[in-house]
Formats: sequence, C-alpha cells, structure tokens
Amino acid sequence: MRNVIFMVGLPGSGKSTISKEIAKKTNGKIVSRDIIRAELGYTSGVDEKAVCTPEQENNVTENEISSIMDTLNNNQTVIIDDTNLKKKFRGNMIREINSKFPGIKIKAILVETDPEVCIQRRKGQIPAVIIRKMADSYDRPTLSEGFSSIEDYTV
Ligand SMILES: Nc1ncnc2c1ncn2[C@@H]1O[C@H](COP(=O)(O)OP(=O)(O)OP(=O)(O)O)[C@@H](O)[C@H]1O
Ligand SMILES: [Mg+2]
Repeated sequence: MRNVIFMVGLPGSGKSTISKEIAKKTNGKIVSRDIIRAELGYTSGVDEKAVCTPEQENNVTENEISSIMDTLNNNQTVIIDDTNLKKKFRGNMIREINSKFPGIKIKAILVETDPEVCIQRRKGQIPAVIIRKMADSYDRPTLSEGFSSIEDYTV
C-alpha cells in the first residue's frame, strides 16, 4: 500500500541514508528539495538558510508538491527527505496531501541524532551556529498535526 513518509532531522542526522533503505524496502520514491534544487540548476541550501532566491525556493516547493502527487498517483510510496523540522512547513505539505489523497497514511520518522554529531558530519559545509539554531527551533512532530504514526529511528 502506498503511503507518505516524512523524514525529520537536522542536516547530517542521517535522513538520506535511512531514506535509501526505506525506498528499497517499500519500492518508494525519494523526493527532496536538495534533489529538486540540483535538477533545476539552483545552488544547494539548507531549508532555513537558503542560498536560492525566495522565488526559486517557491519554485522548488511547487516542484516538490507535484512530484509527491505524481508519485502517489502512480500508487507508489513517497519519502519526503527534507529536514521537516518546522510544524508550519509540515502542515502546508500535509494539507496539500490530504486534499488530494484523503485518508492516506502519513508517517513521520524522527532521526534525532545529537546536534553536535550533526555539526561534525557537516563541518565545512554548514556553520555550527546554523545547526544549533535549527536544533533550538525544532518543533517535534505530534499526531495532532495529522500523522498516522510517529516513529523514532534508532540506530
Ligand atoms: N548511523 C550513522 N553512523 C555514522 N555515520 C552516518 C550514519 N548515518 C549517516 N552517516 C553519515 O553522516 C553523513 C550525513 O548523513 P546523511 O546525508 O544521510 O544526512 P542527512 O540527514 O540526509 O543530511 P542533510 O539534511 O544535510 O541532507 C553522511 O556522511 C553519512 O554517511
Ligand atoms: Mg540528506
């Protein structure tokens, strides 16, 4: 059965690594802002400190939503491999998904790796101060947001 999986975690937490495993197991498709930015030829950026212009970011969002919908229309599970740390951003996505696919199962997988480990893994790529700020403003997902289940990924 197709469903929707939101990966949730800081940069460097391990989301993409885990997404690949899940994609294999579920025959699912990974969608992510990073992949779309690359496809559109935009510079890569962390969600909250994007190097793209706001227009480019909106374009990435539109592309991602249509890619999610296409995948679900194909009856395939979709794995949303973004940081997904902010409730507001998740809410917008969940609303879009529910409006087109009412009743679909939406799961959150929390990859809550220690921020200091994430900082080390992204050294030279993302400043420590950015990762700490993202960790401080993390909205932990709750079922009331519309998730059917929330799983902690433990290594
Ligand atoms: N369980 C693990 N133990 C050790 N290293 C890991 C583990 N999981 C991932 N890594 C390594 O940490 C780095 C970051 O992993 P990954 O790219 O999966 O993170 P991410 O959450 O997708 O990051 P981003 O949000 O920046 O895309 C990679 O070099 C990966 O090989
Ligand atoms: Mg990744």
